[in-house]
Amino acid sequence: MNLPKLRIGELEAAIPIIQGGMAVRISLAPLAAAVANEGGIGLIAASGMRVPELVRHIREARELSDGIIGINVMVAVKEFASLVKAAIQERVDIVVAGAGFSRDVFKWCREAKVAIAPIVSSVRVAKLAEMFGADAVILEGKEAGGHLGTSESTWSLLPRIVEAVKIPVVAAGGILNGRDIFRAITGGASGVQMGTRFAVSEESSAAQAWKEACVKAKPEDVVIIESPVGMPGRALFSKFVKKLYAGEIPHHEDIGRCVTCLKECKKNYCIIEALVRAQRGDMERGLIFCGERVGEIKEILSVKEIIKRLVDEYILAASGVTAFA
Ligand SMILES: Cc1cc2nc3c(=O)[nH]c(=O)nc-3n(C[C@H](O)[C@H](O)[C@H](O)COP(=O)(O)O)c2cc1C
Repeated sequence: MNLPKLRIGELEAAIPIIQGGMAVRISLAPLAAAVANEGGIGLIAASGMRVPELVRHIREARELSDGIIGINVMVAVKEFASLVKAAIQERVDIVVAGAGFSRDVFKWCREAKVAIAPIVSSVRVAKLAEMFGADAVILEGKEAGGHLGTSESTWSLLPRIVEAVKIPVVAAGGILNGRDIFRAITGGASGVQMGTRFAVSEESSAAQAWKEACVKAKPEDVVIIESPVGMPGRALFSKFVKKLYAGEIPHHEDIGRCVTCLKECKKNYCIIEALVRAQRGDMERGLIFCGERVGEIKEILSVKEIIKRLVDEYILAASGVTAFA
């Protein structure tokens, strides 16, 4: 049994896999294009960028792929409106809005005929998104990497959100192999969004040291931190996290470098700076966002190989069910 296609509005992806947008500068043109070239949906993470940088990455992805390319941007960033509008002007196929809820984004996307899929973590917000005109919702459970909107598991949210809305539901958080994809699809999801598995790929723009830290990670190394955005975040334990817990990280407003990039920031430390440091390979002073199941990733593989394995595992899981039926 082959993987089903993923239909979101007018879009049709050959495989039901969205590569989750990963800031800061983890999912850029090379990763998004590689996933799109394999038939999935590739997302460039716009949070932490200014408009010209985002436009450059969208154009580069278009050069590298004829597939489905979109952006992910956090509603919490101050540049949210200008980044979405620039992406729409560049004719991206889909906008994924995470970390917060924006009413305006539905109107902007509808007018431009660009698909819109917000990230939701509850039945209430999934219904709200459908009412505002979302083409799909991406349900993200507590297993996910990055900012978390819930303490509930992907698997407990899935049946309730599938039941509550008529639009496609994409499951995200803790999806690592083809068996997980099969479980999500048989549970009513139209597709999955995967972050961490693609962050640890050859095409991801994280530094080699970042990827190696993930490969070396054990399940007990994954922790929850408090993000200045006002949400918890899932990350790898590191020297930075240790200092954070001890209250030893100064906010860079105190040292004169704050550019007020977030709409609301607790200013207990600068999360963008910490994520950028890690993305560049500074493992001493950087912060690595990762999903709960990072400890199961043992190799840095190409996107082609990751997707080949996902498809094989899915087929095996599906044939197992058929064999016992
Ligand atoms: C390094 C990293 C950065 C992320 N950055 C963002 C982001 O900028 N915006 C967003 O909506 N989600 C972000 N996420 C969440 C992913 O898009 C995705 O939904 C999540 O990682 C899925 O869970 P998984 O990692 O278990 O597959 C990030 C995740 C990781 C691991």
